[in-house]
Amino acid sequence: MIEITRIQQAAEYLRAAQRVVVFTGAGVSRESGVPTFRDALTGLWANYDPHKLATVAGFRANPKLVWDWYAERQAQLRTVTPNAGHDAIAALEKSIPSVTVMTQNIDGLHERAGSTDVIALHGDITRYKCLADCQGNPTEVVIEDLVWDREQGPPACPHCGAWVRPAVVWFGEMLPPGTFERAVALTEAADVLLVVGTSGEVQPAASLPSIARQHGAKVIEVNPHPSALSRRAHVFLQGPSGEVLPQIVAAMHATE
Ligand code: APR
Repeated sequence: MIEITRIQQAAEYLRAAQRVVVFTGAGVSRESGVPTFRDALTGLWANYDPHKLATVAGFRANPKLVWDWYAERQAQLRTVTPNAGHDAIAALEKSIPSVTVMTQNIDGLHERAGSTDVIALHGDITRYKCLADCQGNPTEVVIEDLVWDREQGPPACPHCGAWVRPAVVWFGEMLPPGTFERAVALTEAADVLLVVGTSGEVQPAASLPSIARQHGAKVIEVNPHPSALSRRAHVFLQGPSGEVLPQIVAAMHATE
C-alpha cells in the first residue's frame, strides 16, 4: 500500500467532507504579527495580568487602564493583515459545501480574508457594550456617537450611565447568548473539525474535539507545538498555520 502522508490524509478528509468547522485561536494570527496569549515569552498573558485586564473585577477596579489597553490593541490590529493561513481557510469555501469558522480571536482577520460564515466566540474588539447590559444582553453602544473626556477613561452608557466596555468575552464570563449551543450543534453535524492555533485551555475549545469525535467527525489539528487537544486529533500537523494550511489546500486540488 502506498504510504499516505499526513498532509495528504488531511486533504483527503477535507475533500470528502460536506460540512467543515474550522476552529481557530490566537496562533492562526501569529504570522500576521498578532501576539498569542500563552506563549511563555511573547504571549500577552506573559507580559500583562489577565486578572487586571480581562475580567469584570479588573475593569471595575481600573476602568481607564482596561479601556486604554483595549484601545491600544485595537489600534495595533488596524495595522495587521490576514496571512496565508487565513487565506487558505477562506479558500476552503470554494470546494466544500459548508464551511463555518469558529474563532476565539477578536481581530476580525478571518472576515477580512474572505471567510463568509464566521462565529466570533469571544466577541469583537471593535464593538462596545454597556457593562450592566441594561437593555438586555448584549446592550451594544456605538461609541462614535458619544462625546466624553477620554482622559477620564471609558464613556458612560447613554441609557443607564454605567461604564461602556469592549464587547469581548472576559475570563469568568459566558459566551454571547446561544453561541456555545451553536458551536456544539455545528460541531456535532461536522464531517471534519479543523483545529488551528489554539492551546485548547479554555471552553469551548477544550471540549469541541471530543464532541466532534463522538459524532463521527475527523479531527485535524495544525499547531507548531502539541496542545491539550492533540491527543484527540486523527491527524496532527506540526507547523505554523501560514505554511501548513496552504499545503493542505494545494494537496486537496492536486488529487482532483
Ligand atoms: N500557527 C499555528 N499555531 C500557532 C502558531 C502558528 N504560527 N504560533 C503559535 N501557535 C499556537 C501555540 O502553540 C498555541 O498552542 O497557538 C496557540 C496559542 O494559544 P493561546 O495563546 O492560549 O491562544 P488561544 O488558544 O487562542 O487562547 C484562548 O484564552 O486568554 C484567552 O480569550 C483569550 O481567546 C483567548 C483564549
